[in-house]
Amino acid sequence: MFEEENVPNDQHSFGGSWTLIKLATLEKYLKAFNVALKDKPLKNKPFTRIYIDGFAGTGRCDITISGEKTTVDGSARRALLVNPGFDKFCFIELETKKMAALKLLQEEYPDKAIEIIQSDANLALKQVCKAYNWKNTRAVLFLDPYGLQLQWSTLEQIAETKAIDVWYLFPLAGLYRQMAKNANALDVDKENAITRILGTDEWKQVFYKPSPQDDLFGYNSGNVRDASHKEILQFVSHRLNTLFPAVLEPKILYKNKDRGAPLFALYFGISNPGQKAIVAAKNIANHILNSI
Ligand SMILES: C[S@@+](CC[C@H](N)C(=O)[O-])C[C@H]1O[C@@H](n2cnc3c(N)ncnc32)[C@H](O)[C@@H]1O
Repeated sequence: MFEEENVPNDQHSFGGSWTLIKLATLEKYLKAFNVALKDKPLKNKPFTRIYIDGFAGTGRCDITISGEKTTVDGSARRALLVNPGFDKFCFIELETKKMAALKLLQEEYPDKAIEIIQSDANLALKQVCKAYNWKNTRAVLFLDPYGLQLQWSTLEQIAETKAIDVWYLFPLAGLYRQMAKNANALDVDKENAITRILGTDEWKQVFYKPSPQDDLFGYNSGNVRDASHKEILQFVSHRLNTLFPAVLEPKILYKNKDRGAPLFALYFGISNPGQKAIVAAKNIANHILNSI
């Protein structure tokens, strides 16, 4: 699914029909966010508006839908094209081979204030959260990792700004894959990765129960995972709700139209605790999620 062979220089092959849904949702929100905040003065000065892309890619994506390959604008490029526009853009990307494409994007839009940070998103986002005065700055952050890269501690810092709206494509299938059926098969690295993304090790008690069956020799085969995708999703939603003042019901994204197991859950979290801000952001995001 995440093959990266034969990828042209400025492109990045990874998506399917779910890619279009996440990108269309993000793009609509970015527009509505800027419309809503553009003329809203804070002591006679409008807010500085920033778009932050934690896993920016290259600005373009190759996707395959029903066997047909096509190329679409990725999140970074879509953010640059939004009108009314952001005051500033911050693109974070780990891989060196994607830097050239992001720098070309910067050259293509010389009038836009674009910062490119080559770094692990967790490190970079923690720095970005400290770098701004969030009293007069508002941001939309897109978190679109391949897998379990985003750490809970990073989300904590984001929520602490009380000023960032977050779209987080949570890797449900990736998390499920890491959760071996038998708890004995969970190695320390897997356990740590799951704990880092969920911010707690409570998942071990919640998702694993003593096996109802003994093995061939009559020994109990230990704890086994008895949580469904739905229960895992509920746990993730519960965790996010402990952090953000408001979190919408996620949009579940599947690989195909015929569904099967969910791939991702697209979450929207609001870090501003103000009731007016929550109502406004919720209304916009709900409207978009219901229309897509
Ligand atoms: C799913 S792609 C992002 C696609 C992009 N949002 C778009 O719409 O075009 C995930 C990206 O995260 C990058 N990445 C992987 N691990 C990372 C990390 N720890 N920190 C930052 N970027 C990372 C990958 O190189 C890849 O470009």
